[in-house]
Amino acid sequence: MADVILGIQWGDEGKGKIVDNLASKFEYVVRYQGGNNAGHTIVVDGKTYTLHLLPSGILYKNCKNVLANGVVIDLGELDMEMNQFEESFDSKGDIAEKSPLVGRLFISNKAHIILPYHILLDNANEKNRTKAIGTTGKGIGPAYADKISRCGIQIGDLYRLESLRSKIKANLDSISSRLPNNNLNLDSIMAELSGFAARFKPFITDTTLLLWDAQKQGKKILLEGAQGSMLDIDHGTYPFVTSSTTSIAGALSGTGLNTSDIGEVIGVAKAYCTRVGNGEFPTELLENELGEKLQEKGHEFGATTGRPRRCGWLDLVALRHAVRLNGCTKLALMKIDVLDNFEYINACVKYRYHNEEIEYVPDDLDVDPIYKEFVGWAGSVRGIRKFDDLPPEAQNYINFIEDFVGCKIAYISTSPEREDLIAR
Ligand code: IMP
Repeated sequence: MADVILGIQWGDEGKGKIVDNLASKFEYVVRYQGGNNAGHTIVVDGKTYTLHLLPSGILYKNCKNVLANGVVIDLGELDMEMNQFEESFDSKGDIAEKSPLVGRLFISNKAHIILPYHILLDNANEKNRTKAIGTTGKGIGPAYADKISRCGIQIGDLYRLESLRSKIKANLDSISSRLPNNNLNLDSIMAELSGFAARFKPFITDTTLLLWDAQKQGKKILLEGAQGSMLDIDHGTYPFVTSSTTSIAGALSGTGLNTSDIGEVIGVAKAYCTRVGNGEFPTELLENELGEKLQEKGHEFGATTGRPRRCGWLDLVALRHAVRLNGCTKLALMKIDVLDNFEYINACVKYRYHNEEIEYVPDDLDVDPIYKEFVGWAGSVRGIRKFDDLPPEAQNYINFIEDFVGCKIAYISTSPEREDLIAR
């Protein structure tokens, strides 16, 4: 069976820790959407690894890792990330087959490539918008736009050099008016891509067939989502979203698996809310000392861009919406320790929308929050590993969330450490 772990807020929920914690129990870990706009750092035996693209299973020797068809790949970035695990191997000099990652990493021949012009377009588009989205500037939107417009470049195209050249030439011609005075050069793009073609050859395969085969053999597969449901291209706060399907549907279209292959769907949420970039955020604590306290205690700065994250109270209306959207069977509640020593904690249970009280998520999310107030707890829950050892106020907060959204909170994280997790 394939279990799915996905974010159910605006991203940065702490999926990395849950995936990292569970990855050792799985034989395959699969990324199925997004690209190097995502990111987390994992510390193992004192060494820090930064992962933007590689699935977290890369840290476990027995785990096979897949970048499936729904992902968009910046090949230079992927090369750098792979180098962290290929210490004795020179990716420029040695033959690719010698990489220690061969047989542990599989890249879909259908995944799309982020090219230098996508990054230039991403930044130019942001400048031209009346209100910028606040993208990560990694070329994600333009790469997915080309995919949908049917002029994208797939990984498999790297091995059809003649047609690749003419496709890229056509793309460069068509964007020249949008990017005047650019220094994009067809020959240098082609030279770089043919280097990548040799570098990545041993890793490229039809990952749909690979996963079907793994499924048939009864292997345990973990599908690892990036970003969060409120950033979904269809169901998020459009246009302030990312350009992929971050909700459960993306796990199917992005891998080629179908509904009968899916086991658990584990939604990951923080005990409060954060958002990077622009767009509606009803529970934001704007220019507020409690918001600053959340930011500081939660180290709420983007792993990819370093930008400070906007912080606010937990939005239970949006959370319940995301649980329904994804069919979550279990939840993981992260960073409960960040709420230590708050005199009170708020959670949004309704919205005020055009002078009416509503209990659903309207399309523009231009609402004011209506809160339920909880008594906070004194002292720290950091490192607690049993639910019964949590202070009653924390138990009460967690039980309320569970009842409100109608889904079991199966994991509660009480610190950034891998092992500090309550499982129930
Ligand atoms: P893009 O994905 O770079 O196009 O950015 C679109 C929006 O998604 C922006 O608001 C980004 O801040 C947000 N975003 C993209 N990736 C992440 C992530 O991994 N965590 C949180 N927000 C993200």
